[in-house]
Amino acid sequence: MINIVSLLRENIKSLKPYSSARDEYTGSIGIFLDANENSFGSIPDGNLNRYPDPHQREIKEKLSKIKKTNPENIFIGNGSDEAIDLLMRAFCKPGKDSILIMPPTYGMYRVAADINDVNIIEAPLTAEFTIETDEVLSSIKTNTKMIFICSPNNPSGNLLSRNSILKILSSFDGIVVVDEAYIDFANEDSWISKLNSFNNLVVLQTFSKAWGLANIRVGMAYANEIIISVLNKIKYPYNVNGVSQQIIIDTLDNEARKNEVVNKILFERNKLVKVLSTLDIIEHIFSTDSNFILAKVSDANKVYDYLLENKIIVRNRSNMINCEECLRFTVGTEEENNKLIDILSKYGE
Ligand SMILES: Cc1ncc(COP(=O)(O)O)c(C=O)c1O
Repeated sequence: MINIVSLLRENIKSLKPYSSARDEYTGSIGIFLDANENSFGSIPDGNLNRYPDPHQREIKEKLSKIKKTNPENIFIGNGSDEAIDLLMRAFCKPGKDSILIMPPTYGMYRVAADINDVNIIEAPLTAEFTIETDEVLSSIKTNTKMIFICSPNNPSGNLLSRNSILKILSSFDGIVVVDEAYIDFANEDSWISKLNSFNNLVVLQTFSKAWGLANIRVGMAYANEIIISVLNKIKYPYNVNGVSQQIIIDTLDNEARKNEVVNKILFERNKLVKVLSTLDIIEHIFSTDSNFILAKVSDANKVYDYLLENKIIVRNRSNMINCEECLRFTVGTEEENNKLIDILSKYGE
C-alpha cells in the first residue's frame, strides 16, 4: 500500500477547508437564516433560492449501490474535468512535479497540467494505440506524481490492455488515473472493482456520454477514501448545482434506459463501421470500444472542410501523434449517420 498522504502537496495537507453554512447544519427542516439566501424564493419558478447539498449525499448513496462501492469512495464534480484539475492541484507542486500521459489522448490532462504549471512526460501509445508499458515505467521520474490512462482511449476509441494497466498500478509509487468516460460502450468491467486492491487508483467516469447528460456537467472520481476526502476538501463548496443534482438523482432510477440507449448506439456504430469501410476515401478504420470511430481518410483537412460545408461537424485529429489524416466521427442517430454516409460517398464528385 502506498502512503497517499506523503504524496500530497504540503499546503494541501495543512489546508483548513471553507466551512459552508450547509456543512454546519445538514437537516432539511427548519427556518434557514444561516446562508444569506433569498428567503422569499427565487425570481423564476422552481424553488432555486437555497444552496444545494455541498456533499451530494443522495447521488452518492444511489451511485454507490449501482457501482458496488461506498459513498466515501465517490467524488462528484462539475464534469470529470473538475476531478482532473483537482487531482493536479492536490498532488502536483507547480514548477516541480510532473504527470505522465500517453498521447494521442484526451487533451484536458495536458491543459490542466499547463494551467497548474505541472511538467508533462509523454510515453506515446504505439501506432496500434497500445501502451508501451516498459517505456512508461522507464520514463517515470522522481517527481512524477500521476499517470493518466484513458481506457477506452480518446481519440483512438480502443480499450487499453488490462495487464499493462495492472503492471503500471503495481509498479508506480504515485497516483494512477484510469479515465473511463466511455466505459459503458466497452465490453469490459470497470476498474472500480479494483479500488480495494490499489489505494493509488483513481477511476474517472462521467454522466456526459452514455447517460446523455453532457449539458448539466456531472462527473465522478472513484478512489480510496483518503483521496476522495482531499478532493472534497479542495473543491468549491457548492461545485455541483442543485438542478443538476436533482436530474442525476432521478436519472439513476433509469439505468435500464441508459443500457437500452447504449445498445442502440452500439448497433448504429457497428453499422457505421461497416458502411464507412466500403467508401473509397476511407483508408483505415481503427477498432473502437467507444461511441466514436477514428478513421484514416485520403486527405483529412480536405474531407473535414468538405463535411463542414455540408454542415456536418466532425473532429479533425490529424495533428495528433499516430493520427495522421485521421478524423473522429461520433456515432449519430440512424438519420444523421445516413446523411454522413450519403455526403461522404459524394466526395470528389
Ligand atoms: C476521455 C474523456 N475524459 C473526460 C471527458 C470529460 O468529461 P466531462 O464532461 O465529465 O467533463 C471527456 C470528454 O470528452 C473525455 O473524452
